[in-house]
Amino acid sequence: MPLLRLFLICAVPGLLMLLLGACSERLPRSSGRAALAPAGMQPPAQLGLCAACHGANGHARQPDIPDLAGQKADYLFKAMRDYQSGARNVPLMRGALGPIDPKQMRALADWYAAQPMCLPQVRRP
Ligand code: HEC
Repeated sequence: MPLLRLFLICAVPGLLMLLLGACSERLPRSSGRAALAPAGMQPPAQLGLCAACHGANGHARQPDIPDLAGQKADYLFKAMRDYQSGARNVPLMRGALGPIDPKQMRALADWYAAQPMCLPQVRRP
């Protein structure tokens, strides 16, 4: 099946590149302010408290900080509540959240959940 093989060799990597290209185009990585608001969404007022570490679009700046983009909103919300209550005992995140209320946490969770997830990028040393 030479035609099928040709298709697999040419089209599959091509499609992958398209997918990767489209994805990275939609995700400005540099500035914390550069997240694209998903349709109908305003960036939450408290986003600035998080963007330095998690990025405004949920793509973390450092390898030891979790990506939040595309994660389930309920999970993100619960994680925030757990940091605030101490059920997740991470003083850094408790401090980062500060006294924000559940409504504000819900807005942040919805925002990050709505951000497009990207394929993992392999970092070589
Ligand atoms: C100083 C850096 C820093 C800031 C600022 C920060 N975070 Fe985090 N965040 C972290 C780190 C590090 C973790 C991983 C903590 C752990 O080990 O559980 C984390 C974890 C999380 C998690 C759990 C992710 C998961 O997959 O379980 C959520 C949700 C989260 N942060 C939301 C926020 C929000 C919302 C803000 C802004 C109000 C914020 N963070 C501000 C560093 C930060």
